[in-house]
Amino acid sequence: VGQKVYFQEEMDSTQDYAHRLARKNAEHGTVVITNKQKKGRGRMNRSWESNHPEGIWISILLRPDTPPHHASQMTLFTAVSIVESLRLITNADIQIKWPNDLYLNGKKICGILTEMQAELDQIDYLIIGFGINVNQTLATFPEDLKNKSTSLSIETGKEWNRKELIQIILENFEDHYHHYLENGFHHTKQKWMNYAYKLNEKVEVKTPKSHYSATIQGINDEGALIVKKENQQLETIYSAEIHW
Ligand code: BTN
Repeated sequence: VGQKVYFQEEMDSTQDYAHRLARKNAEHGTVVITNKQKKGRGRMNRSWESNHPEGIWISILLRPDTPPHHASQMTLFTAVSIVESLRLITNADIQIKWPNDLYLNGKKICGILTEMQAELDQIDYLIIGFGINVNQTLATFPEDLKNKSTSLSIETGKEWNRKELIQIILENFEDHYHHYLENGFHHTKQKWMNYAYKLNEKVEVKTPKSHYSATIQGINDEGALIVKKENQQLETIYSAEIHW
């Protein structure tokens, strides 16, 4: 990972750039980085505030020899790699909100977006993109994000070297990737549980069909979320929004 790195001062989105490279047969491990995204994208068609060089905006192209349903596990070990790297450098108590948002002091500091091109039982390619709020000040956050989002700088009172962070994250990511391919999801799952946000706490689960209160129990071997409903029944969740 990171043998080939494409950097440009400005892009629409590192995801879109990586998709174009992938379609031109770019190799596994290709990394796309920019300082400013004009059309940064988040999950569920949301936009991602990133038209400034204070954060880390990056996409990694992977060509794993695995079936498509492994993609969510890969997103989870990406979250674990980022958490471990950021904790190591900043000492901040960062946690993972299922499926893949990173939180610090109750606010979001990083989001991960995984997109896949697959055929039947085989992944053609996977693009894992993540955005980390690093050196933004409170003043630079748009009004509607101030209550929900934060940056490493705001929470730690220091400026951080983005290059150094990227280097460590990519090394850590590579380690997790190989460990995952060789040994499976178990290791990631254990680590994920160590960093899980709101574990054993009450949250609101919202799916397209229902909305209920439940307590987070952890994740299963596929990376799905396990919650306990108020009637003590366990529920396995593959896709939902978690609130509190
Ligand atoms: C989310 O929390 O909704 C996911 C946000 C993902 C943002 C990153 S920034 C780098 C990459 N390029 C994009 O356009 N989006 C992802």
